[in-house]
Amino acid sequence: MSSDPTPPAATRPGLGDPLPEGLLDAGERLTGAELRELQLTRLRQTLRHAYDNVELYRRKFDAAGVRPEDCRTLADLARFPFTSKADLRDTYPFGMFAVPMAEVRRIHASSGTTGRPTVVGYTERDLSMWADMVARSIRAAGGRPGHKVHISYGYGLFTGGLGAHYGAERAGCTVIPASGGMTARQVQIIQDFQPEIIMVTPSYMLTLLDEFERQGIDPRGTSLRIGIFGAEPWTEAMRGEIEQRLDIHAVDIYGLSEVIGPGVASECVETKDGLHIWEDNFFPEVVDPLTDEVVPEGGSGELVFTSLTKEALPIIRYRTRDLTRLLPGTARPAFRRMEKVTGRSDDMIILRGVNVFPSQIEEIVLRTPHVAPHFQLRLTRRGRMDELTVRAEARPGTGPDQRAAAAAAIATGVKDGVGVTVQVEIVEPETLARSIGKITRLVDDRG
Ligand code: DLL
Repeated sequence: MSSDPTPPAATRPGLGDPLPEGLLDAGERLTGAELRELQLTRLRQTLRHAYDNVELYRRKFDAAGVRPEDCRTLADLARFPFTSKADLRDTYPFGMFAVPMAEVRRIHASSGTTGRPTVVGYTERDLSMWADMVARSIRAAGGRPGHKVHISYGYGLFTGGLGAHYGAERAGCTVIPASGGMTARQVQIIQDFQPEIIMVTPSYMLTLLDEFERQGIDPRGTSLRIGIFGAEPWTEAMRGEIEQRLDIHAVDIYGLSEVIGPGVASECVETKDGLHIWEDNFFPEVVDPLTDEVVPEGGSGELVFTSLTKEALPIIRYRTRDLTRLLPGTARPAFRRMEKVTGRSDDMIILRGVNVFPSQIEEIVLRTPHVAPHFQLRLTRRGRMDELTVRAEARPGTGPDQRAAAAAAIATGVKDGVGVTVQVEIVEPETLARSIGKITRLVDDRG
């Protein structure tokens, strides 16, 4: 980030205002009490639908000694068994679908890092609900009918591209379905088509920003005003970097294929204080990953979701592995917020007994002068000791002294902030691999 004080995001007028009352949808108008009543009705229907139509749920509920009718209050959900990615893998590809195949209108899949992909399905009503939730997210971000939305999330089996696409259409926007890749062409299209909104992973946004600069275009002068970023963890430091370089509002959108895709929760532009969970369709819990107990409201832990309206793939207490906590609603008072997800339990590196998340390193790299916001983490082993090297890119034109100072600043920052000693390598500009979708920060070379 530049050393100038960060100006207020998006200095252009008329941005960042709360959504006018008239543009709230029916779900957003519910009172807290109405929402809870609706949730309980829908939860009981979902448990019944899952039990009656999915063999795996029937077996799991029976083994736990619970029946759908045992859920009399929202708190009773805690008596039901969890679902994990392994359950979806074990029933690959369609074993957890709860409707006949003829009613499934679309299939998506997430690749994951190992083994079989996780396959998810949608009925016509599921697709419509999903489009509604993404449209709600776009409005919360400041999007309005008539805006052009440039979508650089990948199209295909990944839920990002098509999920954003139909939501933007539902919001009355004009969609530019760019997908990921062909970066130089994307910049050209943004210049020529003049979109107000971009939906993209934050790491690919950085790749696009570099390309603007490579082409001699000032990104602050583009038509873009709002960026809706998600599909991977990103920090407040990254928000500052992107808002400052583009002069836009950057808001967070969260989701996962197993629950629906993007649009499970989203930030409101007027508060940017975490993501409101669209609780009329997705019921959140936070559990202690070690004890599996639900933590008291506001406590940190692993996010767990139960779908409330999904037909093709009802999902009961799905363990997301994402770490966060639940907070009361602000801009949408009836919906609880989740704190920005800064890590997955899967991404946690345990280095000589200390837990390290890539997002902690991101905060430090982004506040260090003379390095670009691109970094990679490399794990190696010397003897029986693991070593972590932070590889960060020098900004063009930085000399050896500045590089040495940057390396020292990062090492000290990690030692003081995270509590571990790491090696730091400042590499030449534009040498680290650039993201075109979700970025992989960690390279494990421990052999
Ligand atoms: O990434 C859905 C999505 C697409 C969300 C576009 C937002 C925008 P999956 O490929 O199934 O689905 O990956 C889901 O990505 O469990 C989180 O670990 C991570 N993730 C998604 N959004 C965020 C976010 C899509 N805003 C997994 N912040 C989730 C942090 C996120 N992590």
